[in-house]
Amino acid sequence: MATSIQHGQSTATKEPPVDFSRLTRILEQFKGQKGALIPILQRTQDLYGYLPRPALAFISKQTRIPLNRIYGVATFYAQFHLKQRGRNLVRICDGTACHVRGSGRNLDALQHATGVAAGETSPDYKLTLEVVYCLGSCGISPVALVNEKVYGRLNSDTLIQRVKALD
Ligand code: FES
Repeated sequence: MATSIQHGQSTATKEPPVDFSRLTRILEQFKGQKGALIPILQRTQDLYGYLPRPALAFISKQTRIPLNRIYGVATFYAQFHLKQRGRNLVRICDGTACHVRGSGRNLDALQHATGVAAGETSPDYKLTLEVVYCLGSCGISPVALVNEKVYGRLNSDTLIQRVKALD
């Protein structure tokens, strides 16, 4: 049986403008420190929730680190996100245990019900949907992580209900 874990077209709207004042303070804290790019990117992501392109260009200008090197680091590490994410993060596990117990069906149903493809964010930034491969709760598969809460033995109706109840 095929599942449809899709990485569809971006559904996000235009990024909001970026305020550099707090980023300037972060850069001042790391001024002159070698090897500070990763902590700078971590702090920048903490600040904005993701790594906005204008912020990366600003970091490059201020630190004189070439922009392509910054992008190289930002795209290499899974912890960094280059697109704005939703207020709610739903991770569907499609690891082996979850897969054999129907995670593909759950994912298909959720994508259909919300109009958000795996790896994407809704246009109103309410929801980001991701697929992961084991959340360490195989005994209660199929599992989803909704924000920080783990839900196990999910069927598609319960999953959709929980996601639709999010603010
Ligand atoms: S495979 Fe889904 S929790 Fe382990």
